[in-house]
Amino acid sequence: MSDGDTANRMWGGRFSSGPDAIMEEINASIGYDRKLYTQDIAGSKAHATMLGAKGIISSDDVAKILEGLEAVKIEIDNGHFVFKRSLEDIHMNVESRLAEIIGPAAGRLHTARSRNDQIALDFRLWVRDTLDHLETQVSDLMLALAEKALANADTVMPGFTHLQSAQPVTFGHHLLAYVEMLARDRGRIRDARQRLNECPLGAAALAGTSFPIDRHMTAAALGFDRPTANSLDSVSDRDYALEALSTASILAMHLSRLAEEIVIWSTAQFRFVRLSDAFSTGSSIMPQKRNPDAAELVRAKIGRIAGAFNGLLMVMKGLPLSYQKDMQEDKEQTFDALAATSLSVAAMTGMVRDMTANKDAMRAAAGSGYATATDLADWLVRDLGLPFREAHHVTGRIVGIASDAGIGLEDVSLEQMKSVHAGIGERVYAVLGVDNSVTSRTSYGGTAPVNVTAAASLWLDKLRG
Ligand code: ARG
Repeated sequence: MSDGDTANRMWGGRFSSGPDAIMEEINASIGYDRKLYTQDIAGSKAHATMLGAKGIISSDDVAKILEGLEAVKIEIDNGHFVFKRSLEDIHMNVESRLAEIIGPAAGRLHTARSRNDQIALDFRLWVRDTLDHLETQVSDLMLALAEKALANADTVMPGFTHLQSAQPVTFGHHLLAYVEMLARDRGRIRDARQRLNECPLGAAALAGTSFPIDRHMTAAALGFDRPTANSLDSVSDRDYALEALSTASILAMHLSRLAEEIVIWSTAQFRFVRLSDAFSTGSSIMPQKRNPDAAELVRAKIGRIAGAFNGLLMVMKGLPLSYQKDMQEDKEQTFDALAATSLSVAAMTGMVRDMTANKDAMRAAAGSGYATATDLADWLVRDLGLPFREAHHVTGRIVGIASDAGIGLEDVSLEQMKSVHAGIGERVYAVLGVDNSVTSRTSYGGTAPVNVTAAASLWLDKLRG
């Protein structure tokens, strides 16, 4: 329903009637771009101040505009502001209220500016704030993981490939793998932030302006490194939002993998970890259940996050320069996806912080599934001088004997071993235990507890420093 059926006061000059209700519904963005009011008002203050400094409007008008904008901001902060759909978007809602408060001086604010550079600015500022917050959140998650890793530097667990027991690793090493992934996510966030930090304000509708504005002044006032260099590009592109969404998608993919592992680890079959009550739910019918709902939801959030990346990519694809109304479709999905990303990181941080490792269950699982077979093969190479391919074959036969008998590798008798290769001696048993296995893997980046302690400590120093 239209809440103003007369011609729009912002461009009503050549319109004699207001929009159809459906036109208003499809056109209006105030339902969601009201989220940008802080950025919109900050941009207007910087613009008005610059217009005054350059003598384009009087200092009296600047003072009125700045005071009025502050009053509008307070009204919105306090929830007293009445948003009108007939005024379409945040820009016109703010300006119209400004006019009610300060009178005709409000009409001078839009000199040398257009809603096209205004929205390009507001959205860019919002994405920048959001990336900054996300960077802090990712650092917190890295810290939670590094702390857990240090506490579990020598907690032995099975390492998997193909989700089959492969070789023993330490739980700390496994968690630090995620710290490395998140560090790259954080790098992508910083990188995107640095690239977006140019100010589009002053590009006006598309071509720049004939007023003697100072774009460097507004850029500096709003914390940008510099103004954007091309007015058409300034109002046309949303690649900064796409970069934020692609970065968020990769981050969400990492979170989804960790979430899936937590789901597996917390099953009654694995029992590797126990989630706290605070991050589990029960079942209304099955009293024994502790469901990892938060992990499952984090696992799922990538759907909407990567969906938003694709959605905006499709909106932007094939658009001619410069501003097109299509681009109004950038906001809702970006808001939603980045909120989901932030919530996922927060939930994962809480789960990791509270989660307890069941060291006995992990150790028992690490020893099963012939996880030290590679250690046996390596021993045959090192001690008996066998070529690795032959050692692999000998080990395979010994694993066969153990598996037929339903026993572990360390329980195969020396005679049985000798029957496969006569050179094998008593010393072999030292490499068949899981502790020996992980302790021996001291190569750079390997899983040995001494490596894990050093790597976790290094991360903790960086993250706390
Ligand atoms: N609501 C618009 C958007 O989100 C603001 C810019 C509108 N510009 C225009 N010339 N209609 O893109």
